[in-house]
Amino acid sequence: MEEEAILSHLQDHEEIADSGQFAAEKGLDHDKVVNVIKSLHGYGYIVAQDIKRETLVLTEEGETYAAVGSPEIHLFMAIPPEGISREALEQRLDTSVFKIGCAQASKLKWVEYDKKKKIFSRQVQHVEDRVKDVLIQIKDGQAPGPEDVRALKTRKLIAPQIWKGYSVKKGPNYAPKRKTFATDFTRENMQRGDWKDLEFKGYNFSAKGQPLEGGHLHPLLKASVRQQFKMIFQQMGFEEMPTNNFVESSFWNFDALFQPQQHPARDSHDTFFLRVPATTKELPEDYVERVKKVHELGGYGSRGYAYDWKREEANKNLLRTHTTAVSSRMLYLLAQKPFQPKKYFSIDRVFRNEAVDKTHLAEFHQIEGLVCDRGLTLGDLIGVLHDFFSRLGMSNLRFKPAYNPYTEPSMEIFSYHEGFKKWVEIGNSGIFRPEMLLPMGLPEDVSVIAWGLSLERPTMILYGVDNIRDLFGHKVDLGLIKRNPICRLGIY
Ligand code: PHE
Repeated sequence: MEEEAILSHLQDHEEIADSGQFAAEKGLDHDKVVNVIKSLHGYGYIVAQDIKRETLVLTEEGETYAAVGSPEIHLFMAIPPEGISREALEQRLDTSVFKIGCAQASKLKWVEYDKKKKIFSRQVQHVEDRVKDVLIQIKDGQAPGPEDVRALKTRKLIAPQIWKGYSVKKGPNYAPKRKTFATDFTRENMQRGDWKDLEFKGYNFSAKGQPLEGGHLHPLLKASVRQQFKMIFQQMGFEEMPTNNFVESSFWNFDALFQPQQHPARDSHDTFFLRVPATTKELPEDYVERVKKVHELGGYGSRGYAYDWKREEANKNLLRTHTTAVSSRMLYLLAQKPFQPKKYFSIDRVFRNEAVDKTHLAEFHQIEGLVCDRGLTLGDLIGVLHDFFSRLGMSNLRFKPAYNPYTEPSMEIFSYHEGFKKWVEIGNSGIFRPEMLLPMGLPEDVSVIAWGLSLERPTMILYGVDNIRDLFGHKVDLGLIKRNPICRLGIY
């Protein structure tokens, strides 16, 4: 609208002398007119020149008087022809209206105050609210006389303001209508062949691009936590195990680990079982036989659990409840070849059908390490754990006897937290039982020391997150991930 008005006006006029007047005449918004002028100027349709003018604007007080009248008029009107006591007059008016009104009305000699009798009386019959009238004139863009301006300025009812506008003439690229340039070269342009006649908009190489939304790493994935654990394992010569199967059979997750089939962890309250496919397709049959036997009857110096081991139970598919399921597969594979010592690690997701609370989720990440060699002892385990955790800055460790169906002995690992000033549990560990390793076919003198911990725990401590749901799962605030520093130095 503004653009059409400007271009068509210039078609039969030399110039637009004043964009302000132009806008007023055409009933257009001056700000919009200015924007269009800038754009048309940029494309050379017009040449615009700045105009600056001092104008007057009403102050807040000025606006009030323009709307409701000046205090002096209110004061005058509040005095009846027979006069009024000061007290009564004061009651009729706001304090500020009374004060300002008194000063102005007596200056104008509209009223008089008899100090002895304390009576206000009118001195003239008629008054006009000049202040209000002049203020309204100014608001309408008319220029009042210098006397009035001076008076209103002194009373701080108006203030000068610089008004900016433009005078406009035709530019070198003037046309009554803006040409539209094609911005894209489309398939349709090619099909129709009209691209030959199109005028394309030139590239503006200095235009600012859209700010790029880069990818953001979740704290659990950041170098400082997951990557740091991975690096430590690699520096210690550990190989990463393939953890790319969330779905596992009960056999590898529990049975191979000598976890009895009545164990409460194997209940659907603690484990997510799969409906489809509900069971695993294949297991190594001769190994399954040996596992069944060790559960039922024992062997290798063990008495076993003395119960009826059921194949159907072992076949059930589940979401792995720990990455030790991966370790059991890897150790079985290792046992199928001539023995070689190995150091393995994994960091990946596990699932437990637990009630979700501040520190527990139904899925989390486990870090697991194991060393498999001849003649390893509990001393080796403690030594490796010291080495591993001191690389994270935790050299003050304590161990507490614990129980796992697949390790004997088992130890919980505690570290002294300087910040919390207390011992915090940081992991679980042990030496895998012969009932687990020997049915796999590993040589009798081979021991496996292993430990596991959650990735979330150190991350929560590191990032000061006290509710795990703020860190992982559907309630995570994406802002947290975006605002998080790219890197952090030091852990714990
Ligand atoms: N699998 C154990 C857990 O889920 C951790 C662990 C790994 C314990 C290896 C001992 C040896 O807590």
